[in-house]
Amino acid sequence: MKRNHRRRGWSGHGRGSRPYMNKAQRDKANAAAAAKKRELPFSDEVSKYEKMAKIGHGTFGEVFKAKHKLTGKIVALKKCLVQDANEGFPITLLREIKLLKLLKHNNIINLIDICTTEATQFNSYKSNVHLVFDFCEHDLAGLLKNPNVKFTLGEIKKIMQMLLNGLYYIHRNQMLHRDMKPANVLITREGVLKIADFSLARDFSPAVIPQGNCYTNNVVTLWYRPPELLLGERDYGPSIDLWGVGCIMAELWTRIPIMQGHTEQHQLNVISHLCGSITPEVWPNVDMKYKLYQKMQLPKGQERKVKDRLEAYVEDPYALDLIDMLLVLDPAKRTDSDSALNHDFFWFDPLPSDLTNMLSTHNTSMFEYLSPPRHRPQEPPKQNRKSAITSQLVFDRVF
Ligand SMILES: Nc1ncnc2c1ncn2[C@@H]1O[C@H](COP(=O)(O)OP(=O)(O)OP(=O)(O)O)[C@@H](O)[C@H]1O
Ligand SMILES: [Mg+2]
Repeated sequence: MKRNHRRRGWSGHGRGSRPYMNKAQRDKANAAAAAKKRELPFSDEVSKYEKMAKIGHGTFGEVFKAKHKLTGKIVALKKCLVQDANEGFPITLLREIKLLKLLKHNNIINLIDICTTEATQFNSYKSNVHLVFDFCEHDLAGLLKNPNVKFTLGEIKKIMQMLLNGLYYIHRNQMLHRDMKPANVLITREGVLKIADFSLARDFSPAVIPQGNCYTNNVVTLWYRPPELLLGERDYGPSIDLWGVGCIMAELWTRIPIMQGHTEQHQLNVISHLCGSITPEVWPNVDMKYKLYQKMQLPKGQERKVKDRLEAYVEDPYALDLIDMLLVLDPAKRTDSDSALNHDFFWFDPLPSDLTNMLSTHNTSMFEYLSPPRHRPQEPPKQNRKSAITSQLVFDRVF
């Protein structure tokens, strides 16, 4: 008697059975399921905003000026690319969102919303996440690149005060920014400074633990990276951000980054030429602490010239003194944001003054992304030019 074999499995029609899928269909279904898993609950579609212009481009995405279609509110949309559909929600982005949600301060960028684009076969099931921020009219890099923007001493004091206030708040909340640089410092039309870009930020433990913390040292854009990170430090703290503040402060006068290395070794050379040789005399134990100290060829016999080199640009002695205290090689001796805010620089005439009037004379947005590339370093001002020119020959790419 002929037995009637009925194929079982995927082609069956019983309860729980699924229609047969080939590999391509299975991959597609898996990608859709992974995208579904990655979707943020309660997040809106980004289509409620209309993009107006691209204003930034970073490692992980693009930033747009955009308008809310119903309310007309102007925002900044940071589109964060989710690389692999199967990898789940990126941990770095989760960290950025978590920190941004915790930080609420007038000098920190405000995260308004998180939006997504639906994952469909048309975007290979990559549902992009968009962080929605209050829009700021300018970034400091864009402002510094525009020679028509001129800051008075009082306005520079205001910028530095707002920057240090924001950073003090970040550090008080046991977080490190880890990417201080002018492009990450935004200024609103009303002249309020906002620290932005928390994509490299992390929380830190102030407690000293015997084995030490082990954070990555591959953070901070090279020109703003402090010597301890370049030497391989992994147990660092808030002082890493204050080095960047020192570089930014000097740049408010020089209008170009003051230490432009090409590689980590070159960055250490450039730092030594300005801040003096890195030795155990100025930085106890530096030779024992870092293996790289012996491996790298660090310039010997260099004197510290921070004040001498900068006085061609910075006339205010208090300003020079504060920059000098921020650009200290040994992180343990570098000034912190609280002491910096108490420095005489902020408390002697001219006092910090509002930026609103100066900004109101400029009616276009200034962003680093929209600025023309700079080909030549800017020359120092006429007074004291001689010493600066002689140094230019000696100090390769120290402003
Ligand atoms: N809220 C905002 N308002 C106006 N412009 C902004 C705003 N946020 C970012 N931008 C502009 O976009 C640029 C890039 O943004 P951001 O620094 O957050 O990202 P990124 O550098 O691309 O980030 P990542 O380090 O994650 O690659 C900024 O330098 C600034 O010019
Ligand atoms: Mg940035």
